[in-house]
Amino acid sequence: MKAGAVFPGTRKVEVVSLDEPKISAPDQVKVRILEVGVCGTDREICNFDYGLPPEGADFLVLGHESLGEVVETGAAVTRLHPGDLVVPMVRRPCPHERCVACRAGRQDFCYTGDFRERGIKQLHGFMTSFVVDEETYMNPVPRELREVAVLVEPLTIAEKALAQINTIQQRLPWGCPFSPGKPSDYCHRAVVLGAGPVGLLGAMALLNAGFETWIYSRELAPNPRADLMASIGAHYISSRAQSVDQLAAAVGNIDVVYEATGASQIAFELLKVLGTDGVFCFTGVPRHGEPLSVDTDLLMRNLVLKNQVILGTVNAGKDAFQAAIHDLAVFYKRWPEAVRSLITGRFPIERFRDPIFEMSGIKNVIVLDGQN
Ligand code: BGC
Ligand code: ZN
Repeated sequence: MKAGAVFPGTRKVEVVSLDEPKISAPDQVKVRILEVGVCGTDREICNFDYGLPPEGADFLVLGHESLGEVVETGAAVTRLHPGDLVVPMVRRPCPHERCVACRAGRQDFCYTGDFRERGIKQLHGFMTSFVVDEETYMNPVPRELREVAVLVEPLTIAEKALAQINTIQQRLPWGCPFSPGKPSDYCHRAVVLGAGPVGLLGAMALLNAGFETWIYSRELAPNPRADLMASIGAHYISSRAQSVDQLAAAVGNIDVVYEATGASQIAFELLKVLGTDGVFCFTGVPRHGEPLSVDTDLLMRNLVLKNQVILGTVNAGKDAFQAAIHDLAVFYKRWPEAVRSLITGRFPIERFRDPIFEMSGIKNVIVLDGQN
């Protein structure tokens, strides 16, 4: 079977041929991969800035955002059956007894850093026709989501962030006064920084959770992403047209910022206008560049005097996968066209390099045909 792979030693990115994997333990399932999404992490790996092959291997099979169909189950598998659609989790726990996070099944909070991630760090990914993995890492997906479920993994980033924001805001009165005709929790304002797939899915999640939501992104409006956001009720403001102060004047108190660009300069610019009692959530991973200066007095004054929280979040646990599957179904009912339009390109495995190296569209997907 074919797979999309990266060879860091020889700096090659190419299709390789692998043997089809077999079930070797009773708790495993064999999954036919249907689609694999590509993202900035894959781009970094293919630029040899990130990622690590499995021990002893000279290549890493890419692919961490995926959708598959169960084709075979081990004898101890109870929850899954052939024909079920599944989205696999990305991270696998570290081996250390002392890591209470991994031992509790929360490898997304691994303390030791010795976790592994499929398609990223020391484990082959999903950009191939078949994979074998343990049942516990497979999240079942309803058939109705077949067309869009490859978006589940990127949505888990927002789901994990929202769950944490909810927990954090329990520290203060976070209820909303009654406003006729609005959802009961409609009074909080969120700004999403960036209009890539993580940002657009994050905006959907925030809207769906009752936030009035603004997208702040470089491109001048009108543009297709601004139109897409307008169609679901989010506001779009271009950072080329309006400064962060102008943005803040338009929004009012910014209760939540969901950062989804990995661009640190604009993120710290935006941190200056985070509102009172606000939470700023970072999800992007910037490339290492020249150090920049920021107004530390202003930021620190605001953090203290406005009771602010800065939060970073990575990866996702099972709860976030389940929330993402649930919410994607809600978004798809509520905004079918908008959700579908997030997937802008589909490519065969032979052309997996194209969407990685030529950035265009929103979410590009590799389609596996299961033939070879
Ligand atoms: C993936 C996460 C992963 C992170 C860091 C992201 O692209 O979605 O699952 O933890 O990269 O490797
Ligand atoms: Zn990703």
